[in-house]
Amino acid sequence: MSALTEWLLGADSLTPHGFCLLWEPGLIWLFAISDGLIALAYFSIPLALVIIGQRRADLVFRPLLWLFAAFILLCGATHWLDVVTLWKPVYGVQGVVKAATAAASLGTSVALWWWLPKFLELPSPDQLRKANAALLESEERLAHAQKMEAIGRLTGGIAHDFNNVLQVVTGSLGVIERQLERARFDQIGASVATIRKATTSASNLIDRLLAFSRRQTLLPRVIEPDRLVVGLEDMLRRTLGAGIELDLRLGRCRRSVLCDPSQLDSALLNLAINARDAMPAGGVLEIATADRRFEADPSDPDVAPGDYVEIAVTDNGAGMSRDVLARAFEPFFTTKPIGRGTGLGLSQIYGFVKQSGGFVRVDSAPDEGTSVRLYLPGRDRPPFEPAAEASAAAPEAPPQGGVTTRGGKTLLVEDQLDVRLQIADTLEEIGCEVIEADDGAAGLKVLESDEKLRLLVTDVGLPDMCGRRLAEAARSTRPDLPILLITGYAGKSLDSLEVASNIEVLRKPFTLDEFAARVRALLARTAAVD
Ligand SMILES: Nc1ncnc2c1ncn2[C@@H]1O[C@H](COP(=O)(O)OP(=O)(O)OP(=O)(O)O)[C@@H](O)[C@H]1O
Ligand SMILES: [Mg+2]
Repeated sequence: MSALTEWLLGADSLTPHGFCLLWEPGLIWLFAISDGLIALAYFSIPLALVIIGQRRADLVFRPLLWLFAAFILLCGATHWLDVVTLWKPVYGVQGVVKAATAAASLGTSVALWWWLPKFLELPSPDQLRKANAALLESEERLAHAQKMEAIGRLTGGIAHDFNNVLQVVTGSLGVIERQLERARFDQIGASVATIRKATTSASNLIDRLLAFSRRQTLLPRVIEPDRLVVGLEDMLRRTLGAGIELDLRLGRCRRSVLCDPSQLDSALLNLAINARDAMPAGGVLEIATADRRFEADPSDPDVAPGDYVEIAVTDNGAGMSRDVLARAFEPFFTTKPIGRGTGLGLSQIYGFVKQSGGFVRVDSAPDEGTSVRLYLPGRDRPPFEPAAEASAAAPEAPPQGGVTTRGGKTLLVEDQLDVRLQIADTLEEIGCEVIEADDGAAGLKVLESDEKLRLLVTDVGLPDMCGRRLAEAARSTRPDLPILLITGYAGKSLDSLEVASNIEVLRKPFTLDEFAARVRALLARTAAVD
């Protein structure tokens, strides 16, 4: 040990640097170990700075980071050389390293002072947090303001269109009253027809609003998209006119979809009308169908993974600017002159497709045309499939005259007195014997009694119980009883209604003639099954 100490710390081994430490082994060890540790720590710091610089490409003041790394590395080297020069007189190397350290430290300090004001301007994490919170708050305020504006536009649109309808109805009623006073009964028919037209347009408006709100009563059927498009071909050609070529690209769709065929018809017609309006000088409208598969994509929560059928409607017309595209699906948003568009076409399509479990995508640019793609959940087609949609779409010839009531009475459940009285009168006119109930509980009581029933007519939106529950109760005790559900707004209550031959849905508003025809058809069909 003493030989080692002599070799290490003897006067012969030490350089003049060692003499400065008075040949004191304790002092020499203290300096050597401390300088060694400082050097080690200094070498590790630039390594950490390099890792930070590489991993955080977004860091500001990167040159300062590299200067600091060089400066600290050189400081480490200086301390290391302080240890070496205790024994090895490499003062030349030490001098060079000191000069480099001086240059790096000068550069670092100049750069630091130079960038100091900018550095101080940088927001602290606390300031960033506060700014973020303020931004979020202002975004929420903006979203709220936009929502209120959209609701205002929606309400304004509804008010405008309904005031027009009411104006026609009020005006026509005035005319009828005057004609009644003057006993001109033969002239009343024209005013009645005008009122009928106005109420039809109001009910179309309501249908489109319910479609947008995804609350319309859908009557889904399994359909083959290609066959549906082919069935619409004539109507589409008539709608588009001679100047627009219709290019159908079908045959690439192997799946079928479950959706309301009449709604899909009207969606495609609406898209064709939009395309026609965008191509006043003529053009090409292409309708293509295809099977598509979507995987889960967290950036697109709108899309549930799975198989879809794509129906793409593409035109080469005027296209839409970014602003129009951003608002195209808003209800009552239109760029068309008053009387040409209500701005409900795309919103109706959006609501219908969403309610059917799908989604819509649009690509459009000014002068580059528009492509609207509807994606509806696809279903594997059975190898041999009865043409369910054909029978659903084919209108039945309504039976005329009275109905046979030999099976029993008709239970009518409707809470609105005027509506109930009108329907009861109509039922009696066609030969039904009616039991009236003004709520679900009263209807249920009759269903649970021994009363012989031939038909149940029930409103869906009853105050105490959903008409659907009543229908289900009826089906469990009287499985063959024909049921006619009448509804103005069913919400989601009929969404999963089991399709059965003895259940039908009639949407309000209906004319009493339509109602009578549906009752006759339902009774005739179920009597045939019996
Ligand atoms: N194919 C298209 N090419 C260019 N612009 C379109 C196209 N389809 C829709 N738009 C734009 O989007 C707007 C909204 O369309 P939407 O179908 O909802 O209402 P509308 O056609 O104006 O009225 P409505 O369909 O109720 O009669 C249109 O006014 C139009 O500016
Ligand atoms: Mg439209």
